[in-house]
Amino acid sequence: MAVKLKSEDELKIMREAGRIVGQTLEKIREMVRPGLNLLDVESFVEDEFKRVGAIETFRGYSPAPKYPPYPSNICISVNEQLVHGIPVDRVLQDGDIVSFDLGATYKGYVGDAAITVAVGEVSDEAKRLMKVTEDALWAGIKAAGTGTHLNDISTAIEDAITPSGFSIVRGYGGHGVGRDMHEEPHVQNHRMRFRGQPLKPGLVLALEPMVNVGGPDTVECDDGWTVKTRDGSLCCHFEHTIAIRAGREVEVLTLP
Ligand code: MF3
Ligand code: CO
Repeated sequence: MAVKLKSEDELKIMREAGRIVGQTLEKIREMVRPGLNLLDVESFVEDEFKRVGAIETFRGYSPAPKYPPYPSNICISVNEQLVHGIPVDRVLQDGDIVSFDLGATYKGYVGDAAITVAVGEVSDEAKRLMKVTEDALWAGIKAAGTGTHLNDISTAIEDAITPSGFSIVRGYGGHGVGRDMHEEPHVQNHRMRFRGQPLKPGLVLALEPMVNVGGPDTVECDDGWTVKTRDGSLCCHFEHTIAIRAGREVEVLTLP
């Protein structure tokens, strides 16, 4: 499958889709406190998307026949849950870290981003984990640009994480974004053996480093979706959708 480069008109719409995601995530960040029920976040997203005219990208999504259609509009993953957590009747506790991964479809185009947020007072290790993961995302963004190659992103993300002693999750990664949430190419969070394709203006990518405090292995839960660390250690996920522009510029589409 070929990479789809976006026109200026398409990027204009993707900027709007991205802003909806970024602004909604920012509002969710402000809601976070001990006692917040995950189902209230799901309802909030439903209301917000109705208000701004966005479609819930995640609801009903199935990447392969073995996955049941995703039953919500957001992924909420707490502590040892890495990604794809389904919102349930659960209340956040002081000391939790929680990732919110949100997709919006606006005028046919997708924005995709994720943040991890501290609930109340969290451990120093949790704070370091969140900083390392978010820094790795920005290292990947800074390494992107016209004239660089896909592996420059992967290498920058890996090199930002390795000195921490934490583990890079290998089974999941970033992806192209457009009319579909998942387009070519796949973006590894660790270096490839080849420099990969050149990054061209109009390429839109979601970068999403995933980092575990303990070992790199993950397991899928019985709900068919939730991915957690095999050893139960704390983990973290940040994601932005970015557009490669002419002149080595990179635009982050999912900022608030
Ligand atoms: N944002 C996630 C990703 O990039 C997608 C969530 S999976 C879904 O892969 F089913 F919830 F859509
Ligand atoms: Co994504």
